[in-house]
Amino acid sequence: MLVTSRSFEEYEAFFGLAPGDLAGTVLDCSAGASGFAATANARGGRVTAVDPAYRQAAEPLGAAAEAALVEGEAILAEHADRYLWSWYGGLERHHEIRRAALVEFLADLRRHPEAYVAGGLPDLPFEDGAFDLALCSHLLFTWSNVLDEAWHEAALLELLRVAREARVFPLVAQGAGDAVPFLPSLVDRLRGLGHRVEVVDVPYEFQRGARRMLVARRSA
Ligand SMILES: C[S@@+](CC[C@H](N)C(=O)[O-])C[C@H]1O[C@@H](n2cnc3c(N)ncnc32)[C@H](O)[C@@H]1O
Repeated sequence: MLVTSRSFEEYEAFFGLAPGDLAGTVLDCSAGASGFAATANARGGRVTAVDPAYRQAAEPLGAAAEAALVEGEAILAEHADRYLWSWYGGLERHHEIRRAALVEFLADLRRHPEAYVAGGLPDLPFEDGAFDLALCSHLLFTWSNVLDEAWHEAALLELLRVAREARVFPLVAQGAGDAVPFLPSLVDRLRGLGHRVEVVDVPYEFQRGARRMLVARRSA
């Protein structure tokens, strides 16, 4: 799995974030080399990033993220028809955004290592209710070809154990952006457990068909 470096601005669009959404404690789960925590915290936020990749030292982690940037762009060039370019304007701007986010991530990791915690779903190293909001970009559903429905259910329940609200983007599989067959039954089961779950349109579509997020709020 690539350790990608999406930016704060991309996260804002993926998760329909309004300024008030970041007023509390926030978890970026499967944060990879994203610049989200760095930017948000520089603006006074309280964001913690978690990813199993943080078990590595900064240098190999940076090398993995650098390799992901190159590999990701090769995939984009090879499958350009799978993407819509209105948000980025073109490959060059996409590259600038991802590189800037990677540079910001690496600088922040060195300055504030306490904000980057090694760990992974479905067993996160945090207390119950540690966060107001958990964000999860490009892990759940994206990797539904290798992570099954039971894993997704355990992962979503874990996000709702550590946070009052969880937002997940996107809701389609990597590659051609196929719909995830178990999404409706998973939503039904979470609702059956008393959680409030909605599928919400967002102001972003890059991978064709990936324009909705899942918002789950823990039962009282
Ligand atoms: C495609 S990257 C997304 C990174 C970042 N969220 C972004 O949007 O650029 C997927 C990330 O999920 C992480 N990951 C893999 N298994 C995980 C797990 N079980 N729990 C949490 N993160 C995981 C990988 O290390 C990788 O950094």
